[in-house]
Amino acid sequence: MAEVSTGSTTGHGSTTGTESTGSRIVAPSADEIERAAEAALRPKRLDDFVGQRVVRDQLSLVLQAAIARGNPPDHVLLSGPPGLGKTTLAMIISGELESHMRLTSGPAIQHAGDLAAVLSSLEEGDVLFIDEIHRLARPAEELLYVAMEDFRVDVVVGKGAGASAIPLALPRFTVVGATTRSGLLPAPLRDRFGFTGHMDYYSPEELERVILRSAGLLGVHLEHTAAQEIAGRSRGTPRIANRLLRRVRDWAQVRGDGRLDLHAAKSALEVYEVDPIGLDRLDRAVLTALCTRFGGGPVGLSTLAMTVGEEAETVETVAEPYLVREGLVGRTPRGRVATLAAWEHLGLTPPAPTPGYGTGTTNQGTLLDP
Ligand SMILES: Nc1ncnc2c1ncn2[C@@H]1O[C@H](COP(=O)(O)OP(=O)(O)OP(=O)(O)O)[C@@H](O)[C@H]1O
Ligand SMILES: [Mg+2]
Repeated sequence: MAEVSTGSTTGHGSTTGTESTGSRIVAPSADEIERAAEAALRPKRLDDFVGQRVVRDQLSLVLQAAIARGNPPDHVLLSGPPGLGKTTLAMIISGELESHMRLTSGPAIQHAGDLAAVLSSLEEGDVLFIDEIHRLARPAEELLYVAMEDFRVDVVVGKGAGASAIPLALPRFTVVGATTRSGLLPAPLRDRFGFTGHMDYYSPEELERVILRSAGLLGVHLEHTAAQEIAGRSRGTPRIANRLLRRVRDWAQVRGDGRLDLHAAKSALEVYEVDPIGLDRLDRAVLTALCTRFGGGPVGLSTLAMTVGEEAETVETVAEPYLVREGLVGRTPRGRVATLAAWEHLGLTPPAPTPGYGTGTTNQGTLLDP
């Protein structure tokens, strides 16, 4: 059984990015309390990890080969949007290797010395999980390059001209880095990972399996149709799926007859204003404003944001990514436009295009990025 330890320098669990999602039910990120609830639902072995077939296959090879050779595997980088299972996979890696896991995160390491302390406490075969690795301070990053490549840390003794570096050999260990922003990782750091797993959004069928599995762990019977309904509204993200499942369970307990059926799923998600494709109140407000106030656009981001009473940054970082991903909104050099799918989703009829004065509405999901 793998053990997990968190030292004094750990700050695991701080929310990723700068999203001011608040308590938004479809937020991809999670706060400390939710992360604690999530721990109970984490699959412990690779075989229990649903979906991400490619990453799972590749990782399974890396791990099996390392186990067969009796050596710690190459360093592993896991990249992808929040809530898709990076932390879960990191724990699975340590579990499969039956090794001890140390947990820290980029923001928790303020100084190179913090990292040196963590590194020098590692033992042979340990897994060092560095969450949000793109947020490591530069001096710590440089220390990490050497540690990952040469299994050595240079401890600086003294100050100023009299300072000297004493090399300290480290045991062989494996870094598992997680990042939501792999583009921000400097190339030398990225190059030191022998394997990078790119996590992608889950299909509704995969989410259905995640939800049914979670219901089992929560000790509730979830009907298949209800699982399907929740999966369809979870924006491709297991974290959101598990969160919606908990809200459906609440509804069934308080307002229903205890059964988690289709009726309970639909009613609960109506209460929380999550629509059939996973849009929440803000998403729908943006879409409705775009269609009804601006005839489908194009309209500038700040004007659109003002219309829905939000900051431009909130609309851009919180609502827009999913609307664009779903092909409901397009970004053009002249502003945001609604696609035909957006009009259809709102149950509205798009205005007929006037030659030369297009409504901006397009049937293409993604347009030019400005
Ligand atoms: N493939 C999966 N199968 C089953 N459950 C999953 C899977 N992936 C994620 N989960 C569940 O989703 C929740 C969130 O996963 P996790 O914390 O690993 O995401 P993350 O990618 O680390 O997110 P963040 O970027 O915010 O740290 C957990 O409760 C986990 O159990
Ligand atoms: Mg995580």
